[in-house]
Amino acid sequence: VIEAGVASVVIGAIDPDPRVSGSGVSRLKESGIEVETGLLEEEAEAVDPAYFHHRRTGLPLVTLKMAMTLDGSVAAADRSSQWITSEEARKDAHQLRAASDAILVGAGTVRTDDPLLTSRLDEVRTQPVPVVVAGRRSIRAEARIWDRSPIVISTRPLAVPSGEVVVVPGDDDQPEPEATAIALAERGLLEVLLEGGPRLAGEWWGAGLVRRGVLYVGAKVGGGRGLPPLWGDFATMAESRPVNITEVRMVGPDIRIDFDPEGT
Ligand SMILES: NC(=O)c1ccc[n+]([C@@H]2O[C@H](COP(=O)([O-])OP(=O)(O)OC[C@H]3O[C@@H](n4cnc5c(N)ncnc54)[C@H](OP(=O)(O)O)[C@@H]3O)[C@@H](O)[C@H]2O)c1
Repeated sequence: VIEAGVASVVIGAIDPDPRVSGSGVSRLKESGIEVETGLLEEEAEAVDPAYFHHRRTGLPLVTLKMAMTLDGSVAAADRSSQWITSEEARKDAHQLRAASDAILVGAGTVRTDDPLLTSRLDEVRTQPVPVVVAGRRSIRAEARIWDRSPIVISTRPLAVPSGEVVVVPGDDDQPEPEATAIALAERGLLEVLLEGGPRLAGEWWGAGLVRRGVLYVGAKVGGGRGLPPLWGDFATMAESRPVNITEVRMVGPDIRIDFDPEGT
């Protein structure tokens, strides 16, 4: 820019990366270029929110996505959950997948639902990386996820049919959420879609790692106790956390609710 003889530069958002933060601005100013910063800053950051979030925190931007019945279950007591929502809502969710770098699920979901974790939209150029958080029990060799060479997060080295095992610290063979998040960011996976199930989602919510939420509320009533979206105890009202509901819309017969936990 200096060599090209540009007279004035307008910068929306300064790159918070400590390796560069503001140094380019100083060089431009030293060369006599007029520099204005912070114009439409919020809009500029919104172009790539995961980048800014990662540079400030070292963590990926995690979006929790789940589908529940109108009366709040993400699966029936026998663990079946296909399908709580309509074809239209599931197609909508495939757009979320397509916009993500990685899809994160717990081993329980792999064992029960046998997902492929692909985006089944025609226009997807790069498929998101499938990531499985493994625990104590194994995942059968015939699971479809092995066709996708997943990243497997584990507290110990594992022999897996395909993919890469990333060992992180954890308790009782359950990888620690923050260590997992950092490991993903270190691999350049900055936009992570956390698709549950309830145990993994509950842990990540509890660790304060969820920055955005997309909840599909299906036009179905379970009519009894199934699995809740977040496993764990909700002992007293003081434990609840406020969220900003940013959008509510119908997707076919179902509802999509977007929210951000307050203070994130
Ligand atoms: N409606 C929806 O949006 C939706 C989405 C996903 C899943 N589901 C449903 O949820 C059910 C599965 O639920 P789930 O809670 O068993 O599955 P999960 O959360 O996918 O997996 C839990 C398992 O992951 C492993 N794990 C490793 N680290 C963990 C950590 N830090 N925190 C929690 N778990 C960790 C453990 O495996 P080990 O047992 O090997 O120790 C644990 O039992 C199925 O019925 C599925 O259909 C519904």
